[in-house]
Amino acid sequence: MAAARDRSMARVTHVAGLRGAVARLRERGRTVAFVPTMGAIHDGHLSLVKHARRSADRVVASIFVNPLQFGPAEDFTRYPRPIRRDRALFEAAGVDLLWEPRVADIYPEGDCTRVRVSGLTEVLEGAARPGHFDGVTTVVMRLLGAVQPDLLWLGQKDAQQAIVLERMCSDLLSPVSVRRGATVRESDGLAMSSRNAYLSAAERQQAVALSQGLASARALLGAGERSAARLAAAIRREWAGYPLVNEDYVAVVDAATLQPVRQVRSRVLVAVAARVGPARLIDNFEWGTRK
Ligand code: PAJ
Repeated sequence: MAAARDRSMARVTHVAGLRGAVARLRERGRTVAFVPTMGAIHDGHLSLVKHARRSADRVVASIFVNPLQFGPAEDFTRYPRPIRRDRALFEAAGVDLLWEPRVADIYPEGDCTRVRVSGLTEVLEGAARPGHFDGVTTVVMRLLGAVQPDLLWLGQKDAQQAIVLERMCSDLLSPVSVRRGATVRESDGLAMSSRNAYLSAAERQQAVALSQGLASARALLGAGERSAARLAAAIRREWAGYPLVNEDYVAVVDAATLQPVRQVRSRVLVAVAARVGPARLIDNFEWGTRK
């Protein structure tokens, strides 16, 4: 069992308070790992806190539902915000400092700076959600600028987001080391997501199609299949049994460039997105060795 922690979790809102609190965490050369979130905390987020605790002396987490990464027709206003529960979960998981900025702390009056990673952000999620990744990169750059962590922990669940943010940190010569934690799943395989809460009971049952489709593709790859078209066809065959699952995309892309491949030769990302009732769900896995 993990040792009980003798420190309680501190909470801050303003950037100045955050900077002071992080400086105290850093005393005596201690290292800091950072886990940014939008709240509605589940075991996927908490697994990142666990990774963060193992990788650094202190853990900072943030909860900020970032308006800039939601499209006008998306779920910004109805995104779940169970803040008391979130605080308790983070505290129990061993977060040392929780930053809960308000919109004006992140986007002060007169703000006119945006961060864009081109090439990686127009495909897959970026094609379905125009402007989404500009919102993600802009907010994460600001969060990193304020926290200045040694490590940034991100989830494989949002693979494209992780790839885009890794690129951003590397291109901007950021000293932060970006790490990815594996996707945490429900017992039937559904990737945990704050948006799973939008599903009705029938939709929740059928949402398993995403991970099942990916499991068939993975089995085919293991058996030697290398044709991207046949892998995609296997996923769609699996989905045919789930009428409430509407495909947004089924993609086999190079895991570094996110460009489609015809044959699996080096590391690929197999990524899917589907609308299930009111929710848009995504899932993925990576396979193969890097170039
Ligand atoms: P959010 O969706 O709250 O996710 C916060 C972090 O948790 C992300 O790195 C995400 O990939 C990871 N995560 C979510 N579900 C997971 C799961 N089932 N298994 C493992 N990790 C999982 O992603 C965002 O917030 C925002 O875009 C953010 C990066 C905070 C910028 O606003």
